[in-house]
Amino acid sequence: MRNMRVAEALAAREAASQVRVRGWVRTRRDSKGFSFLELNDGSCLSNVQVLAEENLPNLQEAQTGAALEVAGELAASPGKGQQWEIRAKTLRVLGESDQALYPLQKKRHSDEFLRGIAHLRARTNKYGAAFRLRSEAAFAIHSFFRGRAFYCVQTPVLTGADCEGAGEMFRVTTLPPGAAADPVRPFAEDFFGRECSLTVSGQLEAEALALGLGRVYSFGPTFRAENSNTPRHAAEFWMIEPEAAFFDLEDNIALGEDLLRFVTRHVLEHCAPDLDLFERFVDESLPERLRTLAEGPYQRISYGEAVDILAKSGRSFEFPVFFGADLQTEHERFLAEEYFCGPVTVFNYPKEIKAFYMRANDDARTVAAMDLIAPRIGELIGGSQREERLPRLEQRLAELGQDSRNYWWYLDLRRFGSVPHSGFGLGFERLIMLLTGIGNIRDVIPFPRTPNNLEF
Ligand code: 4AD
Ligand code: MG
Repeated sequence: MRNMRVAEALAAREAASQVRVRGWVRTRRDSKGFSFLELNDGSCLSNVQVLAEENLPNLQEAQTGAALEVAGELAASPGKGQQWEIRAKTLRVLGESDQALYPLQKKRHSDEFLRGIAHLRARTNKYGAAFRLRSEAAFAIHSFFRGRAFYCVQTPVLTGADCEGAGEMFRVTTLPPGAAADPVRPFAEDFFGRECSLTVSGQLEAEALALGLGRVYSFGPTFRAENSNTPRHAAEFWMIEPEAAFFDLEDNIALGEDLLRFVTRHVLEHCAPDLDLFERFVDESLPERLRTLAEGPYQRISYGEAVDILAKSGRSFEFPVFFGADLQTEHERFLAEEYFCGPVTVFNYPKEIKAFYMRANDDARTVAAMDLIAPRIGELIGGSQREERLPRLEQRLAELGQDSRNYWWYLDLRRFGSVPHSGFGLGFERLIMLLTGIGNIRDVIPFPRTPNNLEF
């Protein structure tokens, strides 16, 4: 008896008299003398068809949603649409499923409905495909960086610093709810004796590691308490953050483009059946978009040029465009979807709208920032060359009213052996949206965290 996953059974080269598969019944059809069970075990999008004679013991309990172990013969299927089927000799029900209660009975359910049963979404075609693709994309990212001699590093989740300075941090405390805070030393009784939050980015620590290891990247969870209920924002999301010593802004932009090209090619090669499902049921323009991402061109324009293009577009945007204004999603999407029809990196933003650590340009008003903007997503990557000059960095912190003592170790990196270096953050969920065509971030992460949503 040979245990097989469904993907293996469906790819078999020859029939086999004794195989065993285990999985969940997706659908069941009874006809005269036989039942046809579509069995899926998550190993691929397709189900294997199990043919069971009506008097086979336990068949009655083998209902939609039930978990089965089926042993029998792997044989050429006379039916349409599949090469192989399993003719059951024995059938064991590992876990029953009450038909009056099991929620996944229809062929198609709305995304909203399925969000309410996130714990069962992995048993549907679309979410199974999305989570498989997520896994492939993660693998591809590690493989890309390994190929470029970047080390994978782990940066802390609990932190005392607000990397982005945007004040969107979740606080972490062991003080009981409602404990009277000491107005002078409010965190004296707290676990760390100082304020602690969940990280919004591993960048600052990644910089420290890059200035020793040379090239590093982290791939971890990040947390933001921005109360933006948009299809592109989650309170918990995963970020890929490379950081490289001796990289300037151009090297950094090229790294982001190459990464995106590499991952797209990888999923095109390894996720064909799942991508096919997304094209049919989610986004028919997906193949064309993936081709553009895999082959280019990748455009690059300065922020100033972007503002000119937007100002001359003749569009009336909700948010006005002028030099100094932050680019909004509507602007980003115009550039990527209508003007360039593909990915575009905007660089050299005004310093006022970017974080303190970005390297000042000689024009005194812009910084060496870069955002890679993608069709349908808007900002996918945000990064910069870092300010490596100690006086400039201290001056910038002072301008922003920050106490440089809180950044003593970050400033040390500029005191001892400072070098030009760069890095960026790529939002993993936004990448998966781009690669699948799925329009809502809540549907590309198994258990999404968004405002007022913490059920699972
Ligand atoms: O542009 P951001 O804020 O950059 C940083 O945090 C830098 N410290 C990264 C670095 O240079 N190492 O965020 C980076 C990316 C964004 O481009 C976006 O793709 C994603 O993270 N992102 C989010 N994704 C989902 N939900 C949110 N709330 C997100 N906020 C940012
Ligand atoms: Mg950004």
